Formats: sequence, structure tokens, C-alpha cells
Amino acid sequence: MSHASRADPEPAVIPTRSITPAQIDPDALKVARRLQRFGHLAYLVGGCVRDLLLRRTPKDFDVVTSARPAEIRKLFRNCRLIGRRFRLAHIHFRGKIIETATFRASTPVDENGDLLIREDNVYGSEREDAYRRDFTINALFYDPVERQLIDYVGGLVDLVERKVRFIGMPSIRVQEDPVRILRAIKFASRLDFRIERATWKAVRDYRAQIHKAAAPRLIEEIVRMLRGGAAEASFRLMWEAGVLEVLLPELSRYLSRSPERGEERDPGSGLWAYLRAIDRSDREMLTSAVLLSAVMVHPVWDAVASQDFQAYDIRPSSRTWGEVAKEILRPLISRIRLPRWEAERIQQLLASQRRLFDLQRNNPLPKALMRRAYFPEALDMFDLGVRATGKGRRTLARLQRSYRKPAAPKATGSEPAALTRRRGRRRRRRKSDSAPH
Ligand code: CTP
Repeated sequence: MSHASRADPEPAVIPTRSITPAQIDPDALKVARRLQRFGHLAYLVGGCVRDLLLRRTPKDFDVVTSARPAEIRKLFRNCRLIGRRFRLAHIHFRGKIIETATFRASTPVDENGDLLIREDNVYGSEREDAYRRDFTINALFYDPVERQLIDYVGGLVDLVERKVRFIGMPSIRVQEDPVRILRAIKFASRLDFRIERATWKAVRDYRAQIHKAAAPRLIEEIVRMLRGGAAEASFRLMWEAGVLEVLLPELSRYLSRSPERGEERDPGSGLWAYLRAIDRSDREMLTSAVLLSAVMVHPVWDAVASQDFQAYDIRPSSRTWGEVAKEILRPLISRIRLPRWEAERIQQLLASQRRLFDLQRNNPLPKALMRRAYFPEALDMFDLGVRATGKGRRTLARLQRSYRKPAAPKATGSEPAALTRRRGRRRRRRKSDSAPH
């Protein structure tokens, strides 16, 4: 369904000096200028415009244009077209890609009235492109040549009033793409915005449809929430909206069992503490298995401690951390299609935490565990646990000291970047070990 109609008012065109060229990625600027020089419309769009106006540093700069992919490719030697149905231009620069998309419209509703969008590949006008986007704050265009904002949907007012609001009819927009439920929660938490009333109602009313979305997109959004610096706020909001109940019922059960654990005053305090620890850590470096383990450790912990296996729908024969973890993770493989290898990795990480937390001062180090490929992740997870609980600081320091990292190669360029970054981080972390958490 196209959300733009001819009856829609003209866009507000707002000259602004609050975005300066210095804040914009010079390559994105180059792309927009060149497209315009050759007679096309070309703007910055989406998260980068929103973040610049909020004085936040954009993660990346996306360009949108009236030029068709083949026309874009003619203008940029460093351009590759990707995507089979909807072609996007990737313009390559040193160490980065500027994604450049042609204006598109949303696809019409299918014959049997199903709103779910399965394809998203119709070119459209500038107006249609604004209206097909999810939230008003994500649909602002910025023309870096004229230095003006183009606002079809009232996004600027919502930015000022700090509101996450669907463009168009919220009930339709959620059904078209239920991942928008998670996106509303993610943006509200990360930007510290309120979710506008009708948008919030749609989020709550249609939360059960979340599983109509493609499973990999759900995991991706969950991981983005965990990495985005507002993991605690996002999960609290998912709980409040009843989304956890649908998406991760294990966690929802853990939270509702708070009274049994004597946590009336601060229900779910263990989970919130871990999420806070993630928010305060160098989270870009944490693997998705570590992030998901930090979330799933609580139901496992609770099931093992209480031995109330019925509460978590698991077999009473499960006894060890590893077995309980396996049982609790099993439904995630079918529900959110958590890849099997990742479920196994999470299970290993969870089982390792028990070993690490039980390690006493004079115990020998768990040498076999330290040789496992997943040990660096187990250590990251333990680090989060130490920050969250305040326990195990000495053990952590001892493990970090004695953990022998692979020898650094002499020549540069042969070591994977991730490994180098990991090392850098370990050094930094060690310094902050004694800092109060
Ligand atoms: N978008 C959308 N609906 C989606 C995904 C994306 O309308 N389901 C549009 C929005 O305009 C969004 C832009 O595409 O701003 C870029 O999407 P994405 O990179 O997912 O989000 P950002 O807004 O850039 O936020 P983040 O900082 O998380 O990257």
C-alpha cells in the first residue's frame, strides 16, 4: 500500500545551518554533489540526518537519489550494484561504503489483503520514498548542497518533541512489517524518546505478529538492541510492551518469577545488571553469542537454583548448567531460528560461567577450558558477570593475566583485524578492572 497520496501537503523545506559540512562524511558529500551536478536529486537520508540533528555521531551516511542504479554506476567508477530485486549502489571509498539508493515506493497490498510486505522493489518519487519509511524521525531528507531539510511527514516536530511516531496508520505499518515493533522500541530506548500514543498502542496490539517477520531480522534487531548502548532500556521497554512474552518467553518467565526469588523491590535485578554492564562495556567488540548469553544466563541460573524445571518447561532430568542451558535454548532454535552453531556456542559459554564463578583463589586455573576456541568469549562473558554482580574480580584479573594470547605476528596485515582489536581492548580493560562498576 502506498502511504503517499496526492492529497498530502507539500513538504516543509527548512533551510538549516545546524548541520555543517564538517559534520558530514566527505565521501557522502561528494556522492550527493556529483549526483546533483548531473541533474539528479540527491539527499542524505535516514539515521544520519536524525542523528546529526540530535547532535549524535551518525553510524553511517546513506544517500537517496532520483538516479536509477545504472545511472549511478555511470557516474562513479568505484560503484558496485548489489541486490537482485531492488538494486542498491554501493560506492566504495577507502575503508567505507556509501550506500546510495534510488527513491522507491512501498509495494501494493497483495490480492488477499495480506499486509505483510514480502517485496520492496518499486521505484518511486521523492514523496513516496519518504512515506514508505517507518518513523517520522527516520524520513527526513537533507540536501547538503542547498543546506536544507525536506520534511514530508512532520519528522522535525517529532524530533524536537522527542517522539517515535509511525508514518501513516500505525496498525497498518506494524502489520506490513512487524520488525517495526522492535525498531520502535530500539529507537525510543536509544534516543531516550517517548513512543507516541497510537504507535505504542499498535506495538502492543500487534505484538503477537512479530513471528511473521523473517527470523534473521528478529535476531539482528535483538543484537542491535544489545549493542546499541541502551540494552537495559530496550529490554525494559520490551517487557513493558509485552513483547518479551512473545519473543523470549523464557526471559518473561524469569522476570515474572521475581517474587519467588525475593526480588519484589527490584524485579529481574540480575538481568538488568547484566544489561547495564553491556551498556557500559566496549560492546562493539562483544560477539552476538556473548550478548545473547548475557541475556539467557538468567533463566538458566534461576532454573538450576530453584530446580523448578516446570516453570521453564524443561525436562526434570536436566541437572547441570550445560543441560539446562541446552533445554532452555532449544525453543529459540525454532522460534527465532537461532542458528544451531550459535545455540551450541551460547550453551558452552553458559556452562563455562559456572566453572569460572566457582573458581576459588587457590584453585588451579581451568587449563583445558582456557585452551578452548571459545575461551576469549567465555572471558568476555565472565567480565560482564563480574561487572554485573561485583563478584569474581580477582579471578577475572588472574585469568586475564595468565591467558596466553596467540603470539603477535611480526609482519603487519596477516592478523585478522578482530584479533588485533580484541587485544587492544584487553589492555584497556585491565586498567579499568579496579574501577567501581
Ligand atoms: N528504514 C525503514 N524501515 C526499516 C528499515 C529501515 O523505513 N524497516 C529506513 C529508515 O528511514 C531508516 C533507514 O532506512 O532510517 C536506515 O535504516 P537502518 O540502518 O536500519 O536504521 P538507522 O535509522 O540508520 O538506525 P541505526 O542507527 O540503527 O543504523
